[in-house]
Amino acid sequence: MPVQVVVGAQWGDEAKGKVVDYLARSADIVARYAGGNNAGHTICVGDQVFKFHTVPCGILREHITPVIADGVVLDIRSLIGEMNTLESQGIDTTRLRIGKAAHLNLPYHLLMDEMEETRRGAAKLGTTKRGIGPTYADKAARVGLRFGDLLEPSRFRARLQRALDYKNVLLGHVYQASPLHLDAILDEYLLYGERLKPLAVHAPNLLSEARQAGKTILMEGAQGTLLDLDYGTYPYVTSSHPIAAGACLGTGLGPRHLDEIWGVAKAYSTRVGEGPFPSELTDERGDYIRERGKEYGTTTGRARRCGWLDLVALRYSAQVNSFTALAITLLDVLSGLDELFVCVAYRCHGEQVSVFDPDAFVLTECEAVYERLPGWKEEIDHCRRREDLPVNAQNYLQFIESFVDAPIRLISLGPEREQTIFS
Ligand code: GDP
Ligand code: IMO
Ligand code: MG
Repeated sequence: MPVQVVVGAQWGDEAKGKVVDYLARSADIVARYAGGNNAGHTICVGDQVFKFHTVPCGILREHITPVIADGVVLDIRSLIGEMNTLESQGIDTTRLRIGKAAHLNLPYHLLMDEMEETRRGAAKLGTTKRGIGPTYADKAARVGLRFGDLLEPSRFRARLQRALDYKNVLLGHVYQASPLHLDAILDEYLLYGERLKPLAVHAPNLLSEARQAGKTILMEGAQGTLLDLDYGTYPYVTSSHPIAAGACLGTGLGPRHLDEIWGVAKAYSTRVGEGPFPSELTDERGDYIRERGKEYGTTTGRARRCGWLDLVALRYSAQVNSFTALAITLLDVLSGLDELFVCVAYRCHGEQVSVFDPDAFVLTECEAVYERLPGWKEEIDHCRRREDLPVNAQNYLQFIESFVDAPIRLISLGPEREQTIFS
């Protein structure tokens, strides 16, 4: 039974949630491996709409054990809120398992993310202001608190006291903000700890034993390859590793055990926040895509920047992740356009280049070079076989496959489960 990884191949919001929910039909465990509640995955099942930020979306399938693995950063307050909302929608969250080594995203992280963005002014990154960067920074600096600490009240108190001694100096002197009080945080968080204690696990052991027992494990990515801390468009990136290698780091499963690596890409491109985007559309065609694709963020409600499919970036993404398959989503959004443009190279300082350099300062200087492909007029959200799609849509998919050199095994034509072609 395979271990499958679902990775965002672009700048996030590729409909990974829908793809994970679909593939989870035939999995046993769904393990989220990176990021925190900066993620927002929307899943539609019939007339119910579910929004996920930290809980793995595999939880919608009753047979799944959902695991939040150690690479994730946990805003416990937001997690509890999300679990309560899911419970009110009829989802049993007692099946959830949470890795004890997952780092805690605490109130001072949130404040610092917000205040750092304000301090950067025009040079802001456009973060989700969820405290993600400061939490991962503390993890790397070895001063973070982990979920396992929260489960031991005296240890949590001591470590939080130490952290606040330092953070309150920063809050007061650098940001001119009021200090945070130990007892207020303790009172709130220790209650959360009590509620979540039964869910705590040693995630690498749980996953390794499940794999050896022949279970199918689906590793759920968040964000996207081009937001990866090392391989994305630094500094306009997140602070974690959304790429497939991040699934190993975030779960403790070794690289030899990854069997299938699914890259999820929209049939076009979107980006939220700042940073270079060579195939961005700022005209009415961008608006057309934004309105048809409902391209407004699940987490922050921000309008997403929209543009043509960037195949140079997607091929880079396939290289970094070693995709075994592609899922192309939101293809239905492109219906009605006479002509589709796909970016097949860049022009940088008068030279044409066909390799992707993610360095934001280099990429900002790059202009997209397009190939034009004929569009299709008809709506396609009802199609259930690839051969039922208009010929121009089939050709568009084939063009992607041959440029990226990876097979498209899933095509999504709408938010519903059944609006999917799978092979
Ligand atoms: P994620 O963060 O990668 O899971 O993606 P988001 O959930 O942030 O954004 C994808 C959005 O597109 C969600 O609102 C989905 O309900 C919706 N969606 C998913 N697949 C399709 C599709 O094939 N067509 C259309 N029109 N919408 C889709
Ligand atoms: P999902 O999982 C799209 C972007 C932010 C910002 C940058 C850094 O829904 O695909 P951060 O708060 O992480 O420090 O912000 O990363 N970003 C996302 N964009 N989808 C996401 O998640 C994102 N998570 C972070 O907009 O540009
Ligand atoms: Mg999203």
